[in-house]
Amino acid sequence: MDKLLRFFCAVFLYCMACTSAQALEGNVAAGARKNAMCIGCHGIAGYHASFPNVYRVPKISGQNAAYIASALAAYKTGARQHPTMRGVADGLSDQDMADLAAYYSTSAPTSAVAAGAAKSPEGSAAAMALLAKGGCTGCHGANFSKPIDPSYPKIAGQNNDYLYAALRAYQAEGKNLVGRKQPVMNGMVKQFTAAELKVMANYIGGLPGELQTIQSSHAR
Ligand code: HEC
Ligand code: HEC
Repeated sequence: MDKLLRFFCAVFLYCMACTSAQALEGNVAAGARKNAMCIGCHGIAGYHASFPNVYRVPKISGQNAAYIASALAAYKTGARQHPTMRGVADGLSDQDMADLAAYYSTSAPTSAVAAGAAKSPEGSAAAMALLAKGGCTGCHGANFSKPIDPSYPKIAGQNNDYLYAALRAYQAEGKNLVGRKQPVMNGMVKQFTAAELKVMANYIGGLPGELQTIQSSHAR
């Protein structure tokens, strides 16, 4: 009995520790006031990051709140190395992250999986085989828009060049400027070549999804 109790205490403490960053209640209105710094990049459709690599900045409107908060925290700790976002996240408190996450998760109509926006995805057959090999839908959801856990990202319809950069970053792990340390995805990408990651990124980016760039004029 004592053993069992200690086991549950340990599980409880572990869960407290791993969810503490996300446990903060985000305030949408506060997030809308705090996003002035973000819209110069995330509020311009097709805006390109230029350093250390050139690709379009990710769409974050309509993304899961818990994932946004966790991504920002990862830039702050350096688990994600991207220099610009590290600089941005460094100035954010846990409450700022929760507020911005709440704001961005609600700033796009998430029910509108835009069926009309469906393009015929590039390289479908090859992509499907690679995605099946990786078991990607097991976590990101069958349509890549409904991940099994809210702290996992929606990726359908995300900018394909960004998806590719992100997948390469997991391969680079702790590498300065580009690496992402995240055990699950670090393990996932090991089995693929860069060319295969690109095929999957192009396919997922071509799917209809809930992610959007809300232009700054609409964001206020
Ligand atoms: C100078 C441009 C710039 C500014 C300003 C900026 N970002 Fe970013 N953001 C980026 C780029 C580039 C990436 C992709 C980084 C990478 O490859 O990891 C990114 C990534 C992110 C991600 C991760 C998205 C994902 O799918 O994993 C989130 C969340 C985010 N930014 C939120 C914000 C918020 C909130 C602000 C304002 C407080 C902000 N950003 C300001 C350029 C910017
Ligand atoms: C066991 C669960 C799991 C599986 C399987 C999985 N992923 Fe992920 N994926 C995650 C998690 C969790 C994250 C967030 C990692 C982080 O915080 O950096 C993620 C992040 C990503 C990202 C970055 C998204 C962004 O916005 O930056 C991409 C792209 C991605 N996964 C694609 C894939 C592909 C392609 C596969 C199959 C080859 C795959 N994933 C398999 C759990 C999984």
